[in-house]
Amino acid sequence: MLLEIKDLKAEIGGKSILNGVSLKLDTNEFHVLMGPNGSGKTTLAKAIMGHPGVKITGGDILVDGKSIIGLTPDKRAKLGLFMLFQNPSEIDGVGFVNFLRSSLESVNEQTINMKEFMDSIKSNVEHLNFDKNVVGRSLNKGFSGGEKKKAEILQMAILKPKIAILDEPDSGLDVDAIKIVAENINRIREENGPGLLVITHYSRILKYMKPEYVHVMLNGKIVKDGGVSLIEEIEKSGYDKISD
Ligand SMILES: Nc1ncnc2c1ncn2[C@@H]1O[C@H](COP(=O)(O)OP(=O)(O)O)[C@@H](O)[C@H]1O
Ligand SMILES: [Mg+2]
Repeated sequence: MLLEIKDLKAEIGGKSILNGVSLKLDTNEFHVLMGPNGSGKTTLAKAIMGHPGVKITGGDILVDGKSIIGLTPDKRAKLGLFMLFQNPSEIDGVGFVNFLRSSLESVNEQTINMKEFMDSIKSNVEHLNFDKNVVGRSLNKGFSGGEKKKAEILQMAILKPKIAILDEPDSGLDVDAIKIVAENINRIREENGPGLLVITHYSRILKYMKPEYVHVMLNGKIVKDGGVSLIEEIEKSGYDKISD
């Protein structure tokens, strides 16, 4: 599956946030999007998933050559797009396992094999070093920042998207959790091969990952594309020195 973002312009509440973003991402590729706070990274992720608060004012988002701009978020999920939110919301009264089951059913549009499903949850809970009690609770209710991120990684493992956008999978995590989350993202990528767009403003999670392409966003534009050496450059000189 090929995701193409072409000269995308978008605004939130009448304020222009994305000023012409272009990016191509294929299944199996591993991209990282870096940039300082407020540069528009989350807005780009939301635009790709069809968040109603983000108004597209120019350009296009294509999946395998077809525009997805008119599609609802659930239709985009059915195509195989997945997003891990920077700040996941809490949903009271929805059990975590039931949530996973209904999201899998809605994306796949077929009845699921319960044994496979439960086995997959069990093995992912172990891989993620996830507190087993958490799985019995309501989705994200009383979850720590780290547990919320792990819950979303678990969801990605179960849904097997073709392209996953992970918005700050490291935010709010301590060093041990960052390592676990990174290792699990790597493992899921090896097992299911989703194309990845990992968004982060710190390079610390990237110590455990091997991205192929690195993009830097400033003021709603991608100002530089490169490989991992770009991460080192940012680490050394900050975002100020990056320009094309
Ligand atoms: N709901 C909102 N209402 C108004 N402005 C917003 C909203 N969400 C984001 N913005 C603005 O959009 C810009 C980009 O934000 P965001 O995409 O969250 O950046 P990043 O994820 O790179 O930190 C910022 O200037 C931010 O203040
Ligand atoms: Mg953000």
